[in-house]
Amino acid sequence: MSKKYLNNSWYCGAWATEVTTGLFHRVIAGQDILFFRDKAGEPTALSNFCPHRSAPLHLGKLLDDKIECPYHGLQYGLDGKCVHNPHHPEGEPQKSACLQQFPIVEQHDLLWIWMGDPDLADSAAIPDFSCHTDKSMAKVFGVIEMKAYYELITDNLLDLTHASYVHEGVLGSEGIINGEQEVISDGTTIYVNRWCPDHLAPPAWDKAFGDYGKPMDHWLYMRWDAPAHMLLDVGVTPTGKTRQEGLWVYGTDILTPQDETTTHYFWAITYNKGIDNPEVAKMWEHTIDFAFGGQDKPMIEAQQKMINLRGGVDIEDLESIWLDTDSGPKRARLMLKKLMAKKSAIPEPKNPGLRECMEESDKAKDKSERIIPAV
Ligand code: FES
Ligand SMILES: [Fe+2]
Repeated sequence: MSKKYLNNSWYCGAWATEVTTGLFHRVIAGQDILFFRDKAGEPTALSNFCPHRSAPLHLGKLLDDKIECPYHGLQYGLDGKCVHNPHHPEGEPQKSACLQQFPIVEQHDLLWIWMGDPDLADSAAIPDFSCHTDKSMAKVFGVIEMKAYYELITDNLLDLTHASYVHEGVLGSEGIINGEQEVISDGTTIYVNRWCPDHLAPPAWDKAFGDYGKPMDHWLYMRWDAPAHMLLDVGVTPTGKTRQEGLWVYGTDILTPQDETTTHYFWAITYNKGIDNPEVAKMWEHTIDFAFGGQDKPMIEAQQKMINLRGGVDIEDLESIWLDTDSGPKRARLMLKKLMAKKSAIPEPKNPGLRECMEESDKAKDKSERIIPAV
């Protein structure tokens, strides 16, 4: 079965630091994209194949803001138009040779690329990841390639009960299993909030909180925007205490499909405790490497293989059962389907201010006062 990608949407193309004045490419939603920065440092995104004989341009050269094809030397400008044909006696450009140019925006340390009608590209539709550039916080970040269809990874992130099995003894706890889950839609944004009060914290959190050893309140609040841009507000605090008295981080989980069975998983942990301590950064990096790379990735990739063997790409291609804990994944899948069904539909993230969320989240002890307004 063939899946479609959401058209008219921003996708995360790269971390800002991945793209320099060298030629870099990444396949996004089935299209190979060439990324680079011009002399002024501005990012550019063009199709990565030469229209002459389809040579991949990232193997070529960047000469004074012109890309030279590695095969027969046609040169293209920043707007994708051919500017020089070395085989013409006067070097006149081949007018019919033109690369597709994609709108690109650098925001919150990420490069966002618009896949769709360029006239509809509006940077206001990029979800808020401003925690990445908050001076009072630090972050560790990276990209993991997962050999899985991206909605399988969305399922994983919107049903965090898996932590108690896949991440047993690390990020899992009885409190998570017993927690209350609330799924809230606000326009095209979906929140999946899991509130787990007064239980021993997951071992990794307990350790990070100085081997506390006593019951804590644990929250895992995930925000989702189409097609798969997620931000997790997660932390622990001694039972009944405020967020500031505990330990919390933002977890970035942005999934960009490469093709139907491969996903670029852009992750980050943004934290406000120990921001100048390299040991703290190392600890978070190690946790992600261990949990996402060593535990989630093998599970999801194995799941993909089982689905492939049964002739599908996604879980929806097979007869599958759904549990109550799938309410988040189900809601997100439904929203994505709705947006895909309308060709011109564009996700409209609500983007509540993160600062505001942090303050409001202190009230999270009381279920009636959630950080996210119910609609
Ligand atoms: S393939 Fe690019 S110039 Fe021939
Ligand atoms: Fe996980």
